[in-house]
Amino acid sequence: MTDTQIRKGLAGVVADTTAISKVNPDTNSLLYRGYPVQELAATQPFEAVAYLLWTGEVPTEQELAELRTTERAHRALAPEVKAVIDLLPTSAHPMDEVRTAVSAIGAVETAGIDNVLDAVGTPEENLRRSIQLFAALPAIVAYGQRRRRGQEPIAPRDDLDYSANFLWMVFGEAADPVVVDAFNRSMILYAEHSFNASTFTARVVTSTLSDLYSAVVAAIGALKGPLHGGANEAVMHIFDEIGDASNVVPWLDEALASKRKIMGFGHRVYKRGDSRVPTMHDALLTLVEHYDRPDLLELSETLEREFVARKGIYPNLDYPSGPAYHLIGFDTLTFTPLFVAARVTGWTAHIMEQLAANALIRPLSVYDGPAERHIDGYVPNESELAAAARAEEFAG
Ligand code: COA
Repeated sequence: MTDTQIRKGLAGVVADTTAISKVNPDTNSLLYRGYPVQELAATQPFEAVAYLLWTGEVPTEQELAELRTTERAHRALAPEVKAVIDLLPTSAHPMDEVRTAVSAIGAVETAGIDNVLDAVGTPEENLRRSIQLFAALPAIVAYGQRRRRGQEPIAPRDDLDYSANFLWMVFGEAADPVVVDAFNRSMILYAEHSFNASTFTARVVTSTLSDLYSAVVAAIGALKGPLHGGANEAVMHIFDEIGDASNVVPWLDEALASKRKIMGFGHRVYKRGDSRVPTMHDALLTLVEHYDRPDLLELSETLEREFVARKGIYPNLDYPSGPAYHLIGFDTLTFTPLFVAARVTGWTAHIMEQLAANALIRPLSVYDGPAERHIDGYVPNESELAAAARAEEFAG
């Protein structure tokens, strides 16, 4: 039976089951494979959470060691990927850069697979591809920021875990443990969030039996938009515009009068606050203290207080993560690529889950264009007439 009720933006539509994460807006909670995300953020390295998302369990010490060995072996910026990035103007948006780099990796990794039916890969191949892509992304994101600053890439360090090495490759100096911890928490909080727009995009592409890289490239395109991942970048632009806590009230008066959307607030699913915000806000507090920037905290808290009081719409994860990434030293343009590096774990987990019980995702639409009409003088041929007669017979 065809359901013709239109749910704009698929709001409220349940498209499938997933065992990867559970978003519960009533209790403001987010579970990854059953574990509350704040517990994972407080206790686990990001590599362990990636393993959990892919396999369903927190790794044993040995499993984590094995994952780390593979991850460390694939950290370096591959020469062919660097060459592709170097063809782009340094003014290219870093999300376009990351999307292009992943596309290049996909072309290299699937080279020689001539039969399109084979490109989709086995479960083992897709886990391997997921780990390698997860390992490769930090060098791509790091090089993006360095290239825009006219700097050379920095080789990875085998003695550092994922988060510490990521910061090393961006800044070329060992980060303070407080900073590594805040960054690690942000990566865990960004890793997964059920059927959000980019993850659903990845599942749609996968449902056609296309390959994992194509699905991730499409997901990056979806994440770039300011209604989704691009919001963390947009939050920082707003902070730059406001400048100082004392300007918040007049700025907000003007913004709301001109019906502007304030980036970093609101969520399609959470209506009473985003489950990830308290953990990220705590991480932001540690960074504010570490870098001695109470002014930034005051600006952030004042805007939040004023906006919530007026609209009753709460901050989402992008609100505290934007200033946190700014304090760590990331350029505003690098914020959404950091989100890619984190969310690639969730995307690839969903790609594997989709493939394990696949059904082509193909919704319907209600046509509201012009009624049937014809090109002047067109005469249908015999097979078209026969097909029309068959259709009429069937409908009758
Ligand atoms: N600033 C101002 N008004 C907002 C708002 C915001 N950030 N978020 C929602 N609203 C208002 C809308 O203008 C709308 O008001 P109206 O009913 O008077 O027209 C109402 O709240 C519902 O918003 P809508 O955009 O239709 O709801 P949604 O469920 O589709 O929106 C978002 C979810 C995320 C797209 C939306 O909140 C938004 O655009 N937020 C800013 C971007 C952002 O931070 N994205 C990251 C999400 S994690």
